[in-house]
Order: sequence, then C-alpha cells, then structure tokens
Amino acid sequence: MTFPYPVTHQVPLYLAPMAGVSESPFRRLCRRFGADVVVTEFLSAEGIRRENAATIDKLRFGPDERPIGVQIFGADVTAMGEAASLVTNVFGPEFIDINFGCPVKKVVKRNGGSGCLKDLGLVSDVIRAVSRSTHLPVTVKIRSGWSEEMRDPVAIALRCQDAGARVLTLHPRTRAQMYSGAARWDEIAAVVDALDIPVLGNGDIRSADDAFRMYDQTRCAGVMIARGSFGQPWVFDQTRALLQHLPMPPAPPVEERFAIAVEHAHMAASYENDPRGAALEFRKHLGWYVKGLPGSADLRRQLHQVESLGAVEDIFGEYLAARCRGEISSKPEERAAEEAAAA
Ligand SMILES: Cc1cc2nc3c(=O)[nH]c(=O)nc-3n(C[C@H](O)[C@H](O)[C@H](O)COP(=O)(O)O)c2cc1C
Repeated sequence: MTFPYPVTHQVPLYLAPMAGVSESPFRRLCRRFGADVVVTEFLSAEGIRRENAATIDKLRFGPDERPIGVQIFGADVTAMGEAASLVTNVFGPEFIDINFGCPVKKVVKRNGGSGCLKDLGLVSDVIRAVSRSTHLPVTVKIRSGWSEEMRDPVAIALRCQDAGARVLTLHPRTRAQMYSGAARWDEIAAVVDALDIPVLGNGDIRSADDAFRMYDQTRCAGVMIARGSFGQPWVFDQTRALLQHLPMPPAPPVEERFAIAVEHAHMAASYENDPRGAALEFRKHLGWYVKGLPGSADLRRQLHQVESLGAVEDIFGEYLAARCRGEISSKPEERAAEEAAAA
C-alpha cells in the first residue's frame, strides 16, 4: 500500500486533526516524539478563501512539521476548490485533507463536516472539486455515517475512493453518536478490505497498546491518534516500539514530563501573538500533562489558574520540592479520581 507522499515508516503514525489541540507547537512536539505525519485542525474553506486573518494564521507551519496535511471543511464546492488552491499555492503542505467527520451543530447545519454524509453525491462533488483545484494529493476523514440508519462506512469509503481520495481515515462512529459508544474497529477492518487506497484507523486509542491492537486487528495502513496524545506525545515512540516488536519505552518520569510540558509551553508562547491568551489556551495541556500524578487534583487546580506561562515553572518547581520533602500524597477521594483518570 503506497502513500501519495513520502512517509518514513511502513505503518505511519498520525497525529489527528484536532481543533484547539493539533496546532503548530503540539504538532512539532509530536513529530519529535515519533509522529510520522501531522494534520492541522479543520479550517473553514470560506474563512480561507476570504482570507480571514484568524483562519490564515492557523495555516502557519514550520519545516519540522512536514509531512503535514491541511484539513479543510465546507459544503460549497466552489469555496472548497478555491480554499484548496490558496492552501496549495501559498502554504504547500504535503496533502489536503477534507473533513467529513465533524459532528458540531454549527458546522453540520450548513452541511459541512459529517453533514455531507447525508448526501453522498455532495461528498463526491466536494472531493472532485478539491482534486481539480490542487496538484497535491487529496485525502478524506469520514465517520461511519450520519445516523445509525445511514451507517454504511464501506459504501461511503468506496464513494470517496471513486471520487479521487488518495488516503481515507475512518473514525468508526456516526455523527449521531458524537463521541459516545465504542469506536467500531471491525468497520475499519471492513473498509481496509474494501478499498485499494491506504486506510487509516482512528478512534478510542488511549495508549500505545491500543494503537498496536488497532493495527493488529484491522491491518490498517496507518494509525491516527487523537485524544491518546493528550499530555503524552511520547505515545508515538511507544507505539513505534510495539510495532517493531521491541519493548515499549516507559513514560518519562515526572521531572522529564514537566520539562516536556514547559518546553511545549515555551513553544506555544513563541508561536502565539498574545501571551496571556496563550497561557489561558495552554491550561488544558497542563491538566493533561499532570493527569494521574499523586496529588494531581491540587496541582491541576493551581495550573488551571495560571495567567502566564512563567508561573507554570514555579508551580512545577514547588511540586517537585514538596515531593522531595515527602509532602505529596493524595487524599483517598483524590486517589480514586486519579486512578480512574489514569485508567
Ligand atoms: C478536541 C478535539 C478536536 C477535534 N477536532 C477535529 C478536527 O478539527 N478535525 C477532525 O477531522 N476531527 C477532529 N476531532 C476528532 C478526532 O480527530 C478523532 O477523530 C476523534 O477524537 C476519535 O479519535 P480518539 O477516540 O482517538 O480521540 C477532534 C477531536 C477532539 C477531541
């Protein structure tokens, strides 16, 4: 199975497109920790073609992020084509990915994202329009269908392939499910069997073990990790080791974890134009980095109040000092919550 852009491993590992998360700093970090390919968060075709400043700003990426895909969404074929053309000419990523999976009301009410899945003719038209507007490979990310009644991932995937999609990612939930219920990996296996193009598996990967199991059970051409990367970008290196039948490297010790979080914070600060906004936006990452640590409920409370990224280093420093003094212990109710969060 060949990919239409260079990848360094036979089974490439992808950082999933995620609004507010798969931004340039996190993409760079994940590339360094073994993600083979990264994808931007979904960007509105209308916003791109009108050159909306906030949208265009999100298209910035560095050479160390390549290979990278830019994900666009929209149901207006003209806008989608124009957006693809601008992205190609001005930013030149390795591929353009079309979002047919977003379940958010604001997006689907205009038939964008998974809204397109109600009309497979529209899905084909969008893929064709985008493919005509760029020399780059066009890839798609789909859900299994709009609703349980319309659930038919193989039919949707075949339509995408026929219309010219070069790689397809399946998140095997319907739009109606949003993020509830289990992702049906059996549907990934069925789509892998049915298609000639590479199929990426996505959904419910929480750890490197899950990523390996998905590959093992579905034989997908590549694995796309979304929420499983939160606070643990090293999940990619761990997965790579398992795919190579090597022992899995342990998660870094707490000091190193904090150092990675601080480095990530600095990357975010230098990427964003507004330092306070960057700190507020970064709070979610901080919460993810400390998940499962002893006393993490208290730590998280402090981190969720930071207004400057400098404060983060102080909080981590104090935590490590208190740990050395033997003062960090979880209250029983906290311990139960931490264990549940870590599970
Ligand atoms: C915060 C967040 C933002 C997301 N944004 C996007 C997006 O912009 N484009 C997209 O195709 N999927 C998006 N997704 C869906 C993920 O890419 C992925 O398909 C989904 O989370 C299932 O994978 P997981 O169970 O491993 O998290 C988003 C998911 C999350 C949690």
